[in-house]
Amino acid sequence: VARRFLLLAHRVPVAGNFTLNDLAGGAGRMDEVARCVSTALTLSNDLRRDTTVTVLFVAEPPPRARRIRIDGARVRHLNPDERSTAALLKNALVRSLVHEHDHESSPGLVVGPCDIAEELRAFAQLPGAAWLTETGRPFEERPGPTGEFAGILSDPTDPTPEESAQLAELGLPRWSLGQRSLRASQVIDVVHYLLDRAEPPSGPPAARGEP
Ligand SMILES: C[S@@+](CC[C@H](N)C(=O)[O-])C[C@H]1O[C@@H](n2cnc3c(N)ncnc32)[C@H](O)[C@@H]1O
Repeated sequence: VARRFLLLAHRVPVAGNFTLNDLAGGAGRMDEVARCVSTALTLSNDLRRDTTVTVLFVAEPPPRARRIRIDGARVRHLNPDERSTAALLKNALVRSLVHEHDHESSPGLVVGPCDIAEELRAFAQLPGAAWLTETGRPFEERPGPTGEFAGILSDPTDPTPEESAQLAELGLPRWSLGQRSLRASQVIDVVHYLLDRAEPPSGPPAARGEP
């Protein structure tokens, strides 16, 4: 895996008890969380097999908080539309209620309990780990190409003061895509674009869309 994204989802009900008909409301902006997952892992008619996405559902503290990790190399049933992606995530959250430990709820998608502080600490150890925030240094100034990137970002709600304090304490570099506040899914799109330009994907020309 070369690229990893970790998304903090602050308002999605952690037990998956929401309707797919109100993703932006009662589902706590699950629309944007689903868009982030889809943006991170899908290409036109293909998947980004070198990418994983971790979503921390932290609307409630442990033991109810949940982590879902999706591996682009193994995931199945991931379609580009946000409603079916939201359904995949909701099913995982619901199934996780009866599992105390990590559990593969569908191929390539593992759900389990999480402690946000431990998750952030572990993620910060990964190669290329960084905090994506409007107030960071320009993303283009990253040392590289390194071949590895692991970015932490937040959903439409900014990190809490406690989360921000821990991210600062972890000493992560902060990278910015400009002063304008982008949607998290837009941030993922732009990061993929910049990394694709700096570190072109390998493979046969046809896979890269060349004649
Ligand atoms: C919608 S923003 C969070 C709320 C936003 N700060 C606001 O004031 O509306 C979602 C997340 O995307 C990331 N983000 C947004 N704009 C960014 C930028 N210009 N550069 C880097 N990351 C950004 C941050 O991680 C942010 O927490």
